[in-house]
Amino acid sequence: MNVHAQLAQAPLDEQTSAFADDVTEALSQHPKKLSPKYFYDAAGSELFEQITLLPEYYPTRTELEILRARGADIKAIIPKGAALVEFGAGATTKVRLLLNECDFGAYVPVDISGDFLNAQAAELRTDFPDLNVFPVTADFTAPFELPDAGKAMPKVGFFPGSTLGNFEPHEACGFLRSARAILGQGALMLIGIDLEKDERLLHAAYNDAAGVTGRFNMNVLVRINRELGGNFDLSAFAHRAIYNRERHRIEMHLISKKPQTVRVLGRSFTFRAGESIHTESSYKYSLERFAALAKGSGWTPKASWTDADKQFSVHALVASE
Ligand code: AVJ
Repeated sequence: MNVHAQLAQAPLDEQTSAFADDVTEALSQHPKKLSPKYFYDAAGSELFEQITLLPEYYPTRTELEILRARGADIKAIIPKGAALVEFGAGATTKVRLLLNECDFGAYVPVDISGDFLNAQAAELRTDFPDLNVFPVTADFTAPFELPDAGKAMPKVGFFPGSTLGNFEPHEACGFLRSARAILGQGALMLIGIDLEKDERLLHAAYNDAAGVTGRFNMNVLVRINRELGGNFDLSAFAHRAIYNRERHRIEMHLISKKPQTVRVLGRSFTFRAGESIHTESSYKYSLERFAALAKGSGWTPKASWTDADKQFSVHALVASE
């Protein structure tokens, strides 16, 4: 049965049909470009966790090191009894550091994946029995409502992991403005941002020797094959990550090794030899450029911390009047 017949029989669920529309558009574009959000199905999230443990991938361990070393400084600027609002919910290692160090009135993790969110919330409730955990299932890049119980508390936003680096600069500005509107006047925001550095270190971090980043990148094709009835031949594509110096960003690409035609959802998409699908941009900032972005997006820089080698940074921002 072809995919159209399949579609006629069983319509795609809402998420799969959004994925289908985005993939169809992505593969029709020149150059071909797909959102990095599609990396993170169960297998992709597991591969990302493996990436964070690679010797070449410095961001996760360096950010943890900064949060550990600066715990007392962070505690000093956080109001007692605040609601800690985390944008996106991944591994809870970082937030646990903050929860151990500071006295929060509530923890509000916000993520589109409700199942994952609720599982994480259950674990945190076990380990922090006195903490109120109010998960919010929402796309955190769009406006959402804070839970009533947290509304009267001072607000502290938390956006670790340089996830902001996945956003184009205008999107990063839009996100910061929206976070400012959601958290309100007087709010504080803690953001982890990867820094510009020696290109060889950046290159190694996104082209690891064990090939995990390549499998992570390729996983989006695995997903298209499984969820959208695609017939991508994985051996006919190569992972490539390059540093684009002018735009201060790592770019991840999947490069077609030969001229080929791929079918997805019953449609054909052609590739030239060497043609790329741009699957991710990971922007790197200087401390100054990040401070300028924050100031232009409704926030006043209050403090920033880095590791000794200035590989990664954590910023405390205060909502501008
Ligand atoms: C989760 C977006 C911060 O850009 O470093 C890791 C994702 N991509 N290796 C990053 C990623 C390739 C990661 N972020």
